[in-house]
Amino acid sequence: MESTKPSRGFWVLTAILGGISVAAIVYFWTTPTVQPWLPPEGGHPGNEVDKLFRFMAASAAVLYTFVVGYIVYFAIVFRRRKSDPPDALGVHVHDNNKLETAWTILPSLFVVLLSIFSVKIWSVLYLQQPANGLVVESIAHQWGYVFRYPNVKGEIPEEMHLPVNVPVTLNLTSRDVIHSFWVPNMRLKADMIPGMVNVIKFTPTRIGRYPIICTEFCGTLHSRMNGMVSTENGAIMVVESEAAYQAWYHRTQIAQARAPSAAEATEATAIALASGSASAGKTLFSQKCSACHALGPFSQRVVGPGLMGVLHDPSHPNLVDGDPATPANVAKILQRGFTGSYGTMPNQSENALSNQDIANLVAYLNTLK
Ligand code: CUA
Repeated sequence: MESTKPSRGFWVLTAILGGISVAAIVYFWTTPTVQPWLPPEGGHPGNEVDKLFRFMAASAAVLYTFVVGYIVYFAIVFRRRKSDPPDALGVHVHDNNKLETAWTILPSLFVVLLSIFSVKIWSVLYLQQPANGLVVESIAHQWGYVFRYPNVKGEIPEEMHLPVNVPVTLNLTSRDVIHSFWVPNMRLKADMIPGMVNVIKFTPTRIGRYPIICTEFCGTLHSRMNGMVSTENGAIMVVESEAAYQAWYHRTQIAQARAPSAAEATEATAIALASGSASAGKTLFSQKCSACHALGPFSQRVVGPGLMGVLHDPSHPNLVDGDPATPANVAKILQRGFTGSYGTMPNQSENALSNQDIANLVAYLNTLK
């Protein structure tokens, strides 16, 4: 019977793999940034998450080194040789208590270690955050994010401004389907679920513009909810100096005070539709509407219905909300948005439309026959 004792080569290999592992651990633990896998970290406790990442990367490197190292080594050492008879069998080995104990205890210890590490970070993320700070709400919809600030009327689309070094509590929810809120730079992510508020707490520590990305498939234009790819719907987290933030806040507060809130839009402030320009509306339509509405018949649905002849189609005398197809009622849907069996359309502030924009769009839609 052949010996099953490890040869000298095995121990030499083990020493080499050990050396590579130590080098990998040192590399992952000391490399100044975990790039290129992650963009530079922009806040606390993102640095804690990076530590976990380093720990996991170093562990995985060690595991990979040994597993692959031994597979390659054994494949060579125990290969089939020309001198072997055609019916040669390998040595049968079973029951090695020492080995089995080791491969049970070591991974168990590792998993325990990993969970201790993770729970520690979880507690930093959720329990040890400063209590007072800025509270911002973000509401996702198909397809974009809007933000609400204390004492700012209405909702702000696309850009979320935050002062640097001020703790933030972010309340996240959704208006329609499940979306998510991921800011890679902050190492933070949470689902945005209709009827539920998820909370993220962090402190941005680096001035910059960071993309917000939806990582939950939420419909045909899910890809638009990616601040890295799309500037149209993709939202950006803007971290700026306290002074710049205050300036933005006051500017926005004043601007939003003039914008109609969803509730007021329901009152349907009369828009001077006569001032609408069809050509300006056409340009605007391609920017704001064409993603969801085809220039085809009603039945040519993209997200919403086709809008060719929306005001002149005898087979569809009413709009999706049941009101007669008149310019004023189309303007009302543009103001209020629409939620019903047909789907959801964002309102005026979410679509960032001015009253003049609405007049222009209605003028353009009126030309489609
Ligand atoms: Cu919203 Cu994907």
